[in-house]
Amino acid sequence: MAAARILLIVGGGIAAYKACELVRLIRRAGAEVTCVLTDAGAQFVTPMSLAALSGQPVHTSLWNPQDEAEIGHIQLSRAADLVVVCPATADLLAKMTAGIADDLATTLLLATDKPVLAVPAMNVRMWSHAATRRNIAWLRESGVSVMEPDHGPMACGEFGPGRLPDPEAIWRAVEARLAGIPAIGLAGQPGSDERRTPLSGKHVLVTAGPTHERIDPVRYLANRSSGKQGFAIAAAAADAGARVTLVAGPVALPTPPGVERVDVESAAEMAQAVAAALPADAAVMVAAVADWRIADPADEKIKKQGGAPPALALAENPDILASLAAGPQRPRLLVGFAAETHDVLAHAQRKLAVKGADWIIANDVSGDVMGGDANAVHLVSGAGVESWERASKQAVAARLVDRIAAALAAEPADG
Ligand code: C5P
Repeated sequence: MAAARILLIVGGGIAAYKACELVRLIRRAGAEVTCVLTDAGAQFVTPMSLAALSGQPVHTSLWNPQDEAEIGHIQLSRAADLVVVCPATADLLAKMTAGIADDLATTLLLATDKPVLAVPAMNVRMWSHAATRRNIAWLRESGVSVMEPDHGPMACGEFGPGRLPDPEAIWRAVEARLAGIPAIGLAGQPGSDERRTPLSGKHVLVTAGPTHERIDPVRYLANRSSGKQGFAIAAAAADAGARVTLVAGPVALPTPPGVERVDVESAAEMAQAVAAALPADAAVMVAAVADWRIADPADEKIKKQGGAPPALALAENPDILASLAAGPQRPRLLVGFAAETHDVLAHAQRKLAVKGADWIIANDVSGDVMGGDANAVHLVSGAGVESWERASKQAVAARLVDRIAAALAAEPADG
């Protein structure tokens, strides 16, 4: 049988060095590989390394008269049995989706009539950005095999999905694709739709941000919640195919794509908006709801009158999470958050019981969590405590949404 011929397009990313190992594995298996290096890819690996490893000339430019005379770029795109893009950067995936052909690599991708396997690698935020999600969905629908990246620490210091899979795993995907089996090891291919939209058909209700409790027309009581974690959870749930209602306190954040947002100010308004959004399959109550409101807010601005400052009498706010847990429309999965500055786990375990939630996500907010971009949380449930390593709020959201999808997919408990 003739040796398989692979055209390997190496994009620009720190993971490009792993493409060298992939070339070695391809050749070790007896297949042939010809490399195309983008300008950005050449910032990370040299044409010389790829030429030495592949035993073939490396192609870098559309404007090389010698290359054109010898083979021609259309021919190069069709001589292979499989085109592999590794690493596939966000930029390359976007150009593939848009049909842009402004260099040798993108021209080959537009001109090829052969199967294409893309192996993405990028920063976690670029991976979870709506534009990248849309591009990958479109590419998969169009028949391009797109591997799922690995989760883990990244060169940029963040944590989450976006790492290039191990070259061995990429080689297994290449072998599967060459054998005409697009689904093996490639999430998102036909037959693995569940992975892409595990929450499709489900309604997920999320609360986020602080509440503002009015003192008078110009003043309020508030807290330092930024809303970032709740918005990231709403975005991740929408990304997983859920219908998402996001009840947001006053925050300066854009609405994630595909999310239905209801803006509220006070705890009382949040309670009403939550009730109006029911029924829901899962509710994730991330909002830092004010425990107290001003018992009797003033209709006019309270004036300084000299002497003693005014005394503010407080009244307790309704506990939205506890009422939802006890109410007739309790979602099947009810997740609360517990922001604590000390004895984090003990408080969370107590809250699980007192509030009637299924899970409490406990986080220590004594550091830079409030308003920051990273979070270190513990998932506290009847089954015990799971401590997750510190990660970006997006990565925490993605992990939590995976867990929610798994819990909703499981058979409901009897009784
Ligand atoms: O008691 P604590 O405020 O720490 O509880 C936090 C959890 O309870 C969060 O999930 C929060 O959204 C929810 N909560 C609520 N209504 C309140 C207070 C807290 O839903 N009034």
